[in-house]
Amino acid sequence: MNEQLTEQQINAAGHLTIGGCDAIELAHKYGTPLVVYDVSRIRDQIRRFKKVFEANQVDYAVSYASKAFAAIAMYQVAAAAGAHIDVVSGGELYTAIKAGFPMDRVSFHGNNKSADELAMAIHHHVGVIMLDNFHETDLLSQLLEENDAKIKVMLRITPGIAAHTNKYIQTGQVDSKFGFDLASGQADEALEKVLANPRMEMLGLHAHIGSQIFELAGFEGVADKLVEVASHWQAKYGYQARVINVGGGFGIRYVSVDHPLMPEEFVDAIIKAIKTAVAKTNLDLPAIWIEPGRSIVGPAGYNLYTVGSRKDVPGLKPYVTVDGGMGDNIRPALYQAEYETVLASNPHAPIEEHVRLAGKYCESGDILSQDQGLPATKPGDVLAMLDTGAYGYAMASNYNRNPRPAVVFAENGHDQLVIERESYADLVHLDRPYEQQ
Ligand SMILES: Cc1ncc(COP(=O)(O)O)c(C=O)c1O
Repeated sequence: MNEQLTEQQINAAGHLTIGGCDAIELAHKYGTPLVVYDVSRIRDQIRRFKKVFEANQVDYAVSYASKAFAAIAMYQVAAAAGAHIDVVSGGELYTAIKAGFPMDRVSFHGNNKSADELAMAIHHHVGVIMLDNFHETDLLSQLLEENDAKIKVMLRITPGIAAHTNKYIQTGQVDSKFGFDLASGQADEALEKVLANPRMEMLGLHAHIGSQIFELAGFEGVADKLVEVASHWQAKYGYQARVINVGGGFGIRYVSVDHPLMPEEFVDAIIKAIKTAVAKTNLDLPAIWIEPGRSIVGPAGYNLYTVGSRKDVPGLKPYVTVDGGMGDNIRPALYQAEYETVLASNPHAPIEEHVRLAGKYCESGDILSQDQGLPATKPGDVLAMLDTGAYGYAMASNYNRNPRPAVVFAENGHDQLVIERESYADLVHLDRPYEQQ
């Protein structure tokens, strides 16, 4: 059986279960394409990250990078699990507000936050603004003045560390659109601005080196670098950083060749690296924050599809087409992301052929999987794509005017609709007829 599934996930009927719910029943009840989350796995991942900090008696925050999957229900789960969140837009912030998420646990990221977004953050007393550039620093300063307000900030720096990962999702190298550059003195200049502004409370520094990382070296490197910067700031400005945030990027298993480290291994290495580096300085140990996104929701998510048409050409790998595709998961088309897919009615079934799993969108590139081993399938069969919980629904679109799928949370055998399937009426909801002149 597929290694990403456990025996406990197969019920007496031989069907795949998600959060104790029969995947075939979910597909029939809610229709497909359908996104299903096993909520216990989300809670579990958050708990595992937190536990290591607690065992090490380190002040910390596990800040869920909600770009991976943002929804009212998800923010509620994150809140109940004691996580912080990071948001990157007014829309994510609005959703978190609607979910009743505690605003003091929100970090606001982004490399071009608008005046409206910053004003919204001030108005709702967001925990910390992650300052990314000088334009934003000045804009925030002006808005704080106008609103007679104060806010906590952290500086995002570009640490000059390239994570060993797919180049499309690297953000920590020197040539990056994110953060203040170190070597050219931008980070120092930014700190001077913040320290000179009594309306900004400087909390610490942040870096994010990339995504889907399988090695500790990048995190150890960024931990070292951030401590080095903090120590330099202490020597030059007498400023003691209270938080060091090493970002997210913890890799997960999508396919059998992926060998991710466990949350415990990542956090343990980060704590050790920061403690060791701090011990060589005059700094007090700052709180350590991490921002996992993918690793919290990725393995918990499943996309259910129904098989439709098929194309066989002699000598070529067949195309098996499902009722979703790049509109509900653009990652394969966008950066050749790979997934595993099983027959939901029998994940144990032996593989009989290798197919291209095609989507229904009018793009040749809309192939969900270039090489998926499957048993024989027929129209109407339900396929479950595994580990789709991160950056799938979050990046969903209405391309070809296809409605976005519904999202269901499943836990302990109960299923609950948390995002409705879009209707055709929803698709034209914002359209206005053109009055011909
Ligand atoms: C600043 C920041 N933090 C955290 C994350 C989350 O990364 P991941 O989902 O790979 O853990 C991202 C992803 O782009 C990010 O840009």
